[in-house]
Amino acid sequence: MTNEDFTTFPIDAVSQERLAAQGLRLGLVDTSDAAAFDAWLRADLRGFHQGDPSEKVLKEQREGLAYRRTTGVWDETVDEPVVPVATVNSWPANLTVPGGRTVPAWAISSVTVAPTHRRRGVARAMLESELRTAAALGLPLAMLTVSESSIYGRYGFAPAALAADLVIDTKRARWTGPVPGGNVHFIPNERFVDEVAGVHERYRLSSPGELPVWPLRWQQLAGLTGDDEARKRGLRTLRYADEQGETRGVAIFKIDGGDADFTKHTLHLEHLLAETDDAYAALWRFVLEMDLVSEVRAGLRSVDEPLLWQIADFRGVKAEVQEHQYLRVLDVPVTLESRSYFSDGAITLGVTDDLGFATGVWRVEVANGAATVTETTDAPELTLTVNQLSSVLLGGVRPSTLLRASGSPVPDGMDALFASDRTPWLSVWY
Ligand SMILES: CC(C)(COP(=O)(O)OP(=O)(O)OC[C@H]1O[C@@H](n2cnc3c(N)ncnc32)[C@H](O)[C@@H]1OP(=O)(O)O)[C@@H](O)C(=O)NCCC(=O)NCCS
Repeated sequence: MTNEDFTTFPIDAVSQERLAAQGLRLGLVDTSDAAAFDAWLRADLRGFHQGDPSEKVLKEQREGLAYRRTTGVWDETVDEPVVPVATVNSWPANLTVPGGRTVPAWAISSVTVAPTHRRRGVARAMLESELRTAAALGLPLAMLTVSESSIYGRYGFAPAALAADLVIDTKRARWTGPVPGGNVHFIPNERFVDEVAGVHERYRLSSPGELPVWPLRWQQLAGLTGDDEARKRGLRTLRYADEQGETRGVAIFKIDGGDADFTKHTLHLEHLLAETDDAYAALWRFVLEMDLVSEVRAGLRSVDEPLLWQIADFRGVKAEVQEHQYLRVLDVPVTLESRSYFSDGAITLGVTDDLGFATGVWRVEVANGAATVTETTDAPELTLTVNQLSSVLLGGVRPSTLLRASGSPVPDGMDALFASDRTPWLSVWY
């Protein structure tokens, strides 16, 4: 990455001109200017169908999100011209890739276009601008999570880590896994924020797909932000302390239901993160064995949870799988060389990309866990779209699955070449 300040790096001229032709201004927000930032935050929340924020919410978000590059689109002809008609923010973040390594990636969030200005190319102009800005800053890939899966494929993004929503019948599931020696403790929500941040920092390099999480996200998870006092009071937070008393895992949940039958409450597990197998087992066991709870609902879990092998009845868990972490390769050699590999091999790989960033042919040679990637004029043995390449990068999607889906031949050794030692998982939204 260049040493330029990413928050003030000049706005992309191509998209700026395209929007100017429609009478719209693409520009940056100075997040130290509270009035300007508040107007942007109000537009962002409106875009996601949230209510108009209180001063408390605005202050939390001003403090929590000021570090990001904050971009808006303004229309001088609307009744409230200080409020942008479109928003996006972005920042560089180290994405975990296979082998406990990271690659700097351009995280993109808060993509909204006002309903009054939708479907006239504003989102396209912003997304293309974000990709060109990331490339100009020297970031080799971009990433985001999505509200709808149909939006971002056209810009070269594709799912690289999936997630599962679990519904667990606790009476059927019954814990059969290990019973670790440490202890589970209730802690105040305020303490949870520090504990979860610590566990996540120590955990994230072991999970391809994770990225550093900013403090506001943990505060929101713990119910410490916003105007919903009832939500805060309903949340219970836990830590698992190992036999030395050190925190190794955390969980946060709320319980409701039980009106018709007091033995049938539902426990909503909002987050469970463990840096050791003991912490994982102890927290899941605690949750599954809670008295007066017949159902546990847990969203955004890994699609490869050891939990499924720690219960008496596999069919006690229903899983609904969705795509979650989207990636978009911009620089093929840097991205492919950033991760570890678990099988030697070589391929001449062609990549197609409608926006041009990743277009080319590369010789990829993998030996002793590392790839060397050089541009070549040879004919490719395999050609992937940039979406397909982005999907297989973390090892969570097999190249053969994508190639078979598109009716293309599958070269030998491709799945082994891109495989990871860990199923990718991202434990938060961003
Ligand atoms: C999604 C959203 C940002 C799109 O903005 P927009 O300015 O209307 O999009 P554009 O006019 O630039 O459309 C670009 C392309 O995306 C398509 N598209 C836009 N929104 C889409 C959607 N929700 N589903 C599928 N396709 C969509 C358009 O048809 C267009 O396709 P084309 O390039 O093939 O012609 C806007 O509808 C919005 O703010 N939605 C609510 C908030 C949200 O969901 N944000 C995304 C957060 S991850």
